Amino acid sequence: MKNSYDDKVRREIKWYQSSSTTSSLFRRVLNHSLILNPARLDTAYHLAKETMAETLISRLEGDRVQRLLVAPCGTGIDYPYIKDLSEEVHGIDIAEAAVSLCPEEMNAQVADILDAGFPDQHFDVIVSPLFFHHMREFGFARFLNEFNRMLKPGGLLVILEPSLWYPLNIVSRQIKRFGNPYDEVEDEGPFSPGLMLKELKSSGYAKIDWRAATFCHPAFPVAFSRVFHNMMAPLSRSPLVKLFSWMIVYHAVKRDNQ
Ligand SMILES: C[S@@+](CC[C@H](N)C(=O)[O-])C[C@H]1O[C@@H](n2cnc3c(N)ncnc32)[C@H](O)[C@@H]1O
Repeated sequence: MKNSYDDKVRREIKWYQSSSTTSSLFRRVLNHSLILNPARLDTAYHLAKETMAETLISRLEGDRVQRLLVAPCGTGIDYPYIKDLSEEVHGIDIAEAAVSLCPEEMNAQVADILDAGFPDQHFDVIVSPLFFHHMREFGFARFLNEFNRMLKPGGLLVILEPSLWYPLNIVSRQIKRFGNPYDEVEDEGPFSPGLMLKELKSSGYAKIDWRAATFCHPAFPVAFSRVFHNMMAPLSRSPLVKLFSWMIVYHAVKRDNQ
């Protein structure tokens, strides 16, 4: 298992180094600007991250905390969403190519989440956007346990992840059987919300809750996304509807007695 985790880490780092310009016809069609373009992609992710930030603000009841960790921080695109919520912000990511692009104020460093060297009970908040769907094969428990160790008692964990049950994923899952047209890390993919809820519970977290972050897919036209997002917002906590969102925000706290 150790070797395969090391291989996984190498694949994650390599993703930033490999250029995706080797385009087959299949890839070119699926990534045609009429289907996917940077503005549509940015909008879908922005809407999801905006809900993630709203969730943080509401769980913190507007308070500013002392120390917040973004793990993994990638190239720092989460920074604008969390920068006002904490006196100190820290970021970790395994890929140096990503960390080198983070804003300086993010205090980003190259580190594996499992071995970042932070002391016990160090952070008030840990935010983990778009990480666990890369780790389906390795289980979530060891990462959740490490977050638990680094959190202060009562500290908040916020996770953003795609949902397996988003209707358009049924289409993209079939497409991905024929290759890797979206240049993803090979073994990444959405998972069922039930899995994350179960793992959070068995890792000892309390006050576990989740909501839809957005129902908008990156293939939706920008104007439609904005309207649709606002239209669906009142249903973002509805037990049946949130299961079918594109992205989900999970939030939980470390128990006081841990
Ligand atoms: C999809 S990106 C998400 C980054 C950022 N949070 C965002 O939303 O753009 C997944 C990130 O996980 C990082 N990563 C993968 N395994 C890791 C590990 N074990 N420790 C730290 N970072 C890791 C990758 O380098 C990559 O930057």
